[in-house]
Amino acid sequence: MNPEGLPKHVAIIMDGNGRWAQQHKLQIALGHQAGVESLRDIIRESSDIGINTLSIYAFSTENWRRSEKEVSALMSLLLRYFASEIDELDEKNVCIRILGDKQGLPEPQRDAVIRAEERTKNNTGLNLCIALNYGGRAEIVRAARSLAQKVRDGQLSVEDIDDDAFSRELYTAGLPDVDLLIRTSGEQRLSGFLLWQCSYAEFEFPSTLWPDFTLEDYHKALELYQQRDRRYGGRKA
Ligand code: IPE
Ligand code: IPE
Ligand code: MG
Repeated sequence: MNPEGLPKHVAIIMDGNGRWAQQHKLQIALGHQAGVESLRDIIRESSDIGINTLSIYAFSTENWRRSEKEVSALMSLLLRYFASEIDELDEKNVCIRILGDKQGLPEPQRDAVIRAEERTKNNTGLNLCIALNYGGRAEIVRAARSLAQKVRDGQLSVEDIDDDAFSRELYTAGLPDVDLLIRTSGEQRLSGFLLWQCSYAEFEFPSTLWPDFTLEDYHKALELYQQRDRRYGGRKA
């Protein structure tokens, strides 16, 4: 793999845990548990090969619609995840950032994610963005409100509102736009993930279910990305 052509920002919609559990005749919670194993490998690899930012969709604002049993399994998995992974992530110099409405999380989960962010905030390695209670439209509305508030308070003029000013109000402030978006399980939609940031992203939709997604699949996606011709509306000379 040519390290020069690596995407700076990879975003992953980790989809297919439910179908994986069904295929294996297991409870859905075990599908999510199996998904954590894939995640661990992908984070390690992203850090090792020098990806700047990895964003993962862990829980959307719409996922509260699932059964109480599944939501509570996901929430306890989240706590276990931070408890078991934080030491290694910190050692690997990973900087954790939560994308989404932390206030809407149950208190133990909120505390755990805030502690993880706090502990790793000065780390200079991989930026790991975990989207939790995240919705792309909600993120954009929140940014618009914040800008409106700044104009009202006289801190900003309407003319100062441009792409950069807007980006600075998003959860991903200061991070590069998404270069490569991967959604596993064959579904081909964004489900609200990083709507603003994916403006010029390249998309890949491997049919593999997330718990089956291997490093080989990841390398394949990165290689395919490197073959893409990114024009940004221009034309090659
Ligand atoms: C993605 O897997 C994980 C979360 C949404 C938390 P799903 O649970 O959506 O898996 P499928 O789509 O039912 O297979
Ligand atoms: C998107 O997957 C959210 C996460 C992977 C966390 P979903 O499985 O919830 O999305 P839809 O419902 O298929 O669009
Ligand atoms: Mg799904």
